Amino acid sequence: MKTRQITAAVLDRSGENPRPYVRNEAMRVASLDLDPPGQDELLIRMEAAGLCHSDLSVVNGDRPRPMPMALGHEGTGIVEQVGPGVTGYAKGDRVVLAFLPSCGQCVPCQSGEGYLCERGAAANGKGEMLNGGFRLHECGHDVHHHLGVSAFASHAVVDRRSAVKVDADIPAEIAAVFGCAVLTGVGAAMNSAKITPGETVVVFGLGGVGLAAVMGALASGAAKVIGVDPVVEKLRLAEEVGAYAVAPDDLEAVMKREMPAGPDVVIETAGHARVLETAYRAARRGGRIVTVGLPAPDQTFGIPAVSLVAEGKTLIGSYMGSSIPARDIPRYIALWRAGKLPVEKLITSTHELGELNAMMDRMADGQGVRQIILF
Ligand SMILES: NC(=O)c1ccc[n+]([C@@H]2O[C@H](COP(=O)([O-])OP(=O)(O)OC[C@H]3O[C@@H](n4cnc5c(N)ncnc54)[C@H](O)[C@@H]3O)[C@@H](O)[C@H]2O)c1
Ligand SMILES: [Zn+2]
Ligand SMILES: [Zn+2]
Repeated sequence: MKTRQITAAVLDRSGENPRPYVRNEAMRVASLDLDPPGQDELLIRMEAAGLCHSDLSVVNGDRPRPMPMALGHEGTGIVEQVGPGVTGYAKGDRVVLAFLPSCGQCVPCQSGEGYLCERGAAANGKGEMLNGGFRLHECGHDVHHHLGVSAFASHAVVDRRSAVKVDADIPAEIAAVFGCAVLTGVGAAMNSAKITPGETVVVFGLGGVGLAAVMGALASGAAKVIGVDPVVEKLRLAEEVGAYAVAPDDLEAVMKREMPAGPDVVIETAGHARVLETAYRAARRGGRIVTVGLPAPDQTFGIPAVSLVAEGKTLIGSYMGSSIPARDIPRYIALWRAGKLPVEKLITSTHELGELNAMMDRMADGQGVRQIILF
């Protein structure tokens, strides 16, 4: 089969894009050539893709990546063609895409920690497919893949290990956010923090990932959840889903009143090292601190070394919510169907691909939760 012409959003420079992105056209919508799916791969017709802060971090340089790159890593679509060696998927299947394919053979994969897959992380860092190389090209030059997905596109070729089959009746904009915001946020609460009924939880940052973490904490039976964010609109949403919502300056007073012993669990999703320091201090003696945000690589954080021992705190890094996508996406969808994860509250608005720069500007200004592109 031959190459197919697709439409995709391409970033040419990481970290050298002046704001506003909409005026300076940081991302351009381009016509690319997409190879047919190779061994272990699927061709997907994209239905919906959400904008995550990790996309913005490639644009603003907080997460440097090889360029040019077709961005987007949170999405859903329909299998259009199945590559050689693929079983268990057929044309017409609806899939949600996960942003780290796991090889199944490295030490983390064999230890049940596919979210730390060495081959998957190496391929993602190089902007290549799990099986190596590029399926996207422009005028004969390779275009890098974003986290094995490149979802801001009419079509994508993905490794089968990036795709999880889901029911076709889920609205596309809702299915899309299970791929990153829900997988990461709910997973941080359920898999990384392992919240148990009656525990008290503070979540820093109430974007798509943080609000999903609030939902995951409440669905795990947390007695009380406090959400912290400087943006009023986010606080209102956190209250709607059942959390106490406070601006950073008011946190100490509210914690003293609602969680006088200190929270059992603190989840950081703001993506700043300073916020992680605050999160660490906030946890009670013996508490667990889960960090999810991805600060720029030059940010370091400081805690008194003795406090880990003397206060018995546990600091946990959480990539992809320590989730096993094929196990957890169906579980989270079942919880959504049961009314326990109000995922629709994450959806702020729907857009066309050409609006991506304006969407990036809004996210950089702290506005909105998940803005979704529909194809
Ligand atoms: N670990 C993972 O696997 C993974 C996956 C997806 C995203 N991420 C990262 O998680 C972070 C959140 O992603 P998102 O898409 O929800 O981003 P977002 O921009 O939608 O949300 C971040 C929120 O943090 C808030 N914030 C800023 N300063 C704060 C402060 N001082 N205290 C409290 N809140 C503050 C912002 O107002 C915003 O609401 C990003 O760093 C992203 O790169 C990590
Ligand atoms: Zn993401
Ligand atoms: Zn692996």
